[in-house]
Amino acid sequence: MSVYLDYAATSPLRDEVLSVFTEHLKVIGNPSSVHSSGQAVRRLLEEAREIIAAAVGAHRSEIIFTSGGTESNNLAIKGLFWQRKNESVDRNIVISTGTEHHAVIDPIEWLVKHEGAEAKWLEVSHDGEINISSLQDYVDKNHERISFISIMWANNEIGVINDIAAITKIAARYQIPVHSDAVAAFGHTEVNFANSGLATLSISAHKVGGPVGIGALVVARSAKLEAIAHGGGQERGIRSGTLNAAGAQAFALAAKLAAQEHSAEEIRLSALRNDLVDRVLLIDPTAKLTGASLPRLANNAHFVFRGCSGDSLLFLLDQAGVCVSVGSACQAGINSASHVLLAMGRDEIDAWGCLRMTLGHESTQADVDAFIAALPAAIAGARKAGLAN
Ligand SMILES: Cc1ncc(COP(=O)(O)O)c(C=O)c1O
Repeated sequence: MSVYLDYAATSPLRDEVLSVFTEHLKVIGNPSSVHSSGQAVRRLLEEAREIIAAAVGAHRSEIIFTSGGTESNNLAIKGLFWQRKNESVDRNIVISTGTEHHAVIDPIEWLVKHEGAEAKWLEVSHDGEINISSLQDYVDKNHERISFISIMWANNEIGVINDIAAITKIAARYQIPVHSDAVAAFGHTEVNFANSGLATLSISAHKVGGPVGIGALVVARSAKLEAIAHGGGQERGIRSGTLNAAGAQAFALAAKLAAQEHSAEEIRLSALRNDLVDRVLLIDPTAKLTGASLPRLANNAHFVFRGCSGDSLLFLLDQAGVCVSVGSACQAGINSASHVLLAMGRDEIDAWGCLRMTLGHESTQADVDAFIAALPAAIAGARKAGLAN
């Protein structure tokens, strides 16, 4: 059995969630049907909606089921852009950062290419901190043309937590909607939609012990979105398609457990993570912990090993039975430097030399010990291979 330290890519399905999921897969009925079978499935779905809403601090009517984080972000970004264009054709500026997940960057770039959007990529420091005062200045000067702002709650690669309250405060002065991708944050730090001032927020089940293929876009009751998929008019007409009741039940249980356990897990995982960080720095004092001075997710440790290729480290650790990551799993397989580190103004050597370890509900001290035992040989091998440049 390999040691799994890649929870930010996907997390193991919890046993109790698997039971709930499989139990409901055989339940017959389309939740939009009026007969009793359909209505029974509708009740399962509404019960799940209520539980997910409670876990994320939202009202049940604000939960729009989707297929996951990517769809939620696309729906928010395109839906907000078109809605704001309807209100005023001049509103075409989308504000975000180059450190976002590709599920945010790419739909914005698509809007630039096909819909006349103008992207404003905010400055991010070498550590991954957004420059809030430059955002304030930019918004004050351009508010009449700003469509919306999209800033992730916490970064999936480096674990840095953004100051969402400061961003929504700036936007609120001009009624500019703010979207946040909370896929990496939810379950690992407190995420409360009602207190956030956000218009929309994305979450995904498979990052919190639920199945792949279901997630939600939380849409404030006051927010307006154009639909991007048209059909049966489900989910307030925002997201058509027959609803996935078994997935929703499984997601609800995973979300409930993640929300219930997160305070205790934050303490347990940060102790494991801190031990991992200390021992990495003893093995290689030249390794640099990313975002060391900033608030970060308790389950994340991101390092730059200058002079090593992250891909070589990943490969050698995998050979030793330890699964880690160089960055976003969606980019894995594509040999490239981290776009997150490059957007932070780091050079190519840093951007090639990243290694991310992320922990979660099944992680133990033995996992950290196994990683630490395998690391010296991996670093030596990667340096010898001379793959960094
Ligand atoms: C921050 C972030 N946003 C979005 C996604 C995409 O989510 P999904 O895999 O549910 O489509 C991911 C997945 O890696 C992520 O980490």
